[in-house]
Amino acid sequence: MEQPRAVILAAGEGTRMKSSLPKVLHLLCGRPMLWHVIQSAKAVTSEQLLVIGHGAEQVKGYFGEEFLYVEQRQQLGTGHALQQVLPYLPATGEVLVLCGDTPLLENEVLEQLVSFHRREGAAATVLTAQMEEPRGYGRIIRDKQGRVQKIVEELHLTSEQKTVQEINTGSYCFDLQALKRFLPSLPQNALKGEYYLTDLIPVLVEAGFKVESYKIEDALQALGINDRLQLSWAASRMREKINTALMRSGVTMIDPATTYIDTGVEVGRDTVIYPQTILEGKTKVGENCRLGPGLHLVDTLVGARVTCRQAVVLESILQDGAIIGPFAYIRPGSTIGAGAKIGDFVEIKNSSIGQGSKVPHLSYVGDTQMGPGVNMGAGSIVVNFDGRHKHATSIGEGAFIGCNSNLVAPLSIGSGAFIAAGSTVTRDVPPGSLAISRSKQENKEGLGKRFLEKKKEK
Ligand code: UD1
Ligand code: CA
Repeated sequence: MEQPRAVILAAGEGTRMKSSLPKVLHLLCGRPMLWHVIQSAKAVTSEQLLVIGHGAEQVKGYFGEEFLYVEQRQQLGTGHALQQVLPYLPATGEVLVLCGDTPLLENEVLEQLVSFHRREGAAATVLTAQMEEPRGYGRIIRDKQGRVQKIVEELHLTSEQKTVQEINTGSYCFDLQALKRFLPSLPQNALKGEYYLTDLIPVLVEAGFKVESYKIEDALQALGINDRLQLSWAASRMREKINTALMRSGVTMIDPATTYIDTGVEVGRDTVIYPQTILEGKTKVGENCRLGPGLHLVDTLVGARVTCRQAVVLESILQDGAIIGPFAYIRPGSTIGAGAKIGDFVEIKNSSIGQGSKVPHLSYVGDTQMGPGVNMGAGSIVVNFDGRHKHATSIGEGAFIGCNSNLVAPLSIGSGAFIAAGSTVTRDVPPGSLAISRSKQENKEGLGKRFLEKKKEK
């Protein structure tokens, strides 16, 4: 049987978010809430139509050309939003209508909704949930036989209806013939002047059409996000799911409650994640790594057996067995070679560090190609910026850079070269040479002692 179409309502401003960003673009685990809704919809529908309005350009800018966008110029309610797409929907079949602000709904539930709707041969099936705290949601009002009669919004509830805990999730499956016939003449809500999609339900019931409901078992999936508090609840619930799946797949988490992993991040088996670790974007981590505590990886590829703690790593590659941190900052475009060590208070930018090389303490390395087996002494610095331009540096295999040296770029240091501690190197160093560039030391006999004694007298 053909899959239904999906319509996702995403034109609202999201006033309650108090934000200049359209509500549906607010992030949960690294992706806009609308992205999550689209993912679930894609799994069960043949085509997705997005109703956009508020912040339309921003929404299109994020999602690109893949979807059919229909603009709702004035946000006159959820019913009005759906009216805008009617011309783009076929005459028969089904449509799954979803809200852009319910990102926790999983495709299994949508699948169940569609098959229930088909089995029952309904004109409309509402996805409902039982909520302990139903405030803010539309309530499902049933007749004496228990059939869905109407949906009443919070604003319009009688005190008796307020006790109803069955809520409208805002997701529905409609028969297109019935929808096309009745949606255009949806009544306007007298109090708000809006066209509520929920008001289509009594219209269908009164016309003698079959209206059904399908209740989600896991009510938490129905969470609708209207403000930032709800956003944080939804994000924490989504994180829990991501962490659970990773632990099930063989990742150890010392404290899942303080482990923040974006949707789509991969982590290999037997990797151990310590508290306060954040893995974002396109990050992929191999097997047997030790991550954290206190680690932030963004769009970073991590090989196997990497140790990385108390560090920030952006858009970089950490190869097998690398050791990073504590207290390291690795900026975009860097590759840390296999078994290399980047130690404490070290910053690496747009550089490649060769296999087994060591930059253990207090260094800056920028725009540098470093071969394998290099040792950078404590405090040595690559001077890559002359105030106007950035320049490149290369350091050959096995070179030894003494402590506290300045390597003034552009510069090439040959393989096996030795830079004496405290040197400021401004000219290329041939392979195997020793470079020393610092003023000669003089020792004045007895002067130190005299100096110290004078100080005491004062
Ligand atoms: C809606 C439902 C309510 C349900 C709840 C579930 C109505 C009248 N109410 O209420 O029964 O319990 O969702 O979370 O349908 N939108 C548009 N155009 C508009 C207005 C809204 O596209 O003119 C979009 C919004 O972007 C949003 C969705 O529709 O994604 C729901 O709108 P929202 O204002 O959040 O409705 P609720 O008050 O939450
Ligand atoms: Ca909502």
